[in-house]
Amino acid sequence: KRPAGAPDPKIARRISKVGVIGAGLMASQFALLFVRRLQVPVVITDLDQARVDKGLAYITGEIDTLRGKGRISGDEANRLRALVTGTTNRADFADADWVIEAVFEELGVKQEVFADIEKYVGPETILATNTSSLSVERIGEKLAHPERLVGFHFFNPVAVMPLIEVVSAPATDDVTLSTAMATAKALRKNAVITRDTPGFVVNRVLAKVLGEAMRAVDSGTPFADVDTALAPLGLPMAPSALLDLVGLKVGAHVLDTHHAAFPERFYRSDNLHALADHGSLLEKDKSGKITGFDKTALKIVSGGGTP
Ligand code: 3HC
Repeated sequence: KRPAGAPDPKIARRISKVGVIGAGLMASQFALLFVRRLQVPVVITDLDQARVDKGLAYITGEIDTLRGKGRISGDEANRLRALVTGTTNRADFADADWVIEAVFEELGVKQEVFADIEKYVGPETILATNTSSLSVERIGEKLAHPERLVGFHFFNPVAVMPLIEVVSAPATDDVTLSTAMATAKALRKNAVITRDTPGFVVNRVLAKVLGEAMRAVDSGTPFADVDTALAPLGLPMAPSALLDLVGLKVGAHVLDTHHAAFPERFYRSDNLHALADHGSLLEKDKSGKITGFDKTALKIVSGGGTP
């Protein structure tokens, strides 16, 4: 069994190129953070060029915003833009020493992605998963070298949230763990090492809060009243806004995984899946400011659920 505490920082590997699998919003957000803080080439990939281009457009847009706010110089903005590239060919990861994925939260999909990546990368490349609640051990089941797999769980919005959960699976070795801790530090985030349990630390608590909020909604309490009722807890965001931020699909998935692991302790909600299929819970103005609830969404939840 691993001794308590982080492994020796001296054994951390140097990272000189990063591969990012998935070009969705979460992956694009941390791709930007990697390039900004590590100043090394970052390659993003996805299933097709359209998705890759969307990810690249997000990253260059955020670089422009940083420049506009005066956080980075014009030279730095140019340097960052030049360091980020996109590809649909995973062979471009061949010389990456850190590959991280944020693809669809389904065990089989993540297992296949990593098994495939292992064909292209060297034996020392660290593999990291941004899974929010799947077992890192199981994600690594098809790997020839599961000792180089680690959980590296970011929070939304990546640029602002200060934490990374570094998830140590039973097979994760000390070099991998040490590299993950050093990488989190280089990204200027706080890192905590967590055990490979459903939801790790943060989502385990969040699944309880959001699950009970959904249970109340499904039992007939209007969403707005649940938000008002929980305001005195001092959460930085109301449950509706937090669900919207993490994404309704991701939120529903997090509740499902916790319910599957601990049916007595966690609530799952069909209504949340129906909301995810509908697409939105909240209405926003052009600047992204929340203006109220989506009317169709309210009809979906007032249909009632199982208390
Ligand atoms: N994306 C990027 N940047 C954002 C952002 C977003 N969605 N929202 C806010 N920001 C940035 C703003 O641009 C601003 O940056 P600046 O200082 O450079 O101008 C900075 O954050 C502060 O923004 P605001 O002034 O609007 O700050 P607020 O006081 O409204 O705080 C918040 C915004 C930090 C998002 C705060 O509401 C908060 O902490 N919310 C809780 C978020 C949370 O709990 N996240 C965890 C979700 S769980 C998860 O992700 C795990 C997954 O596995 C499910």
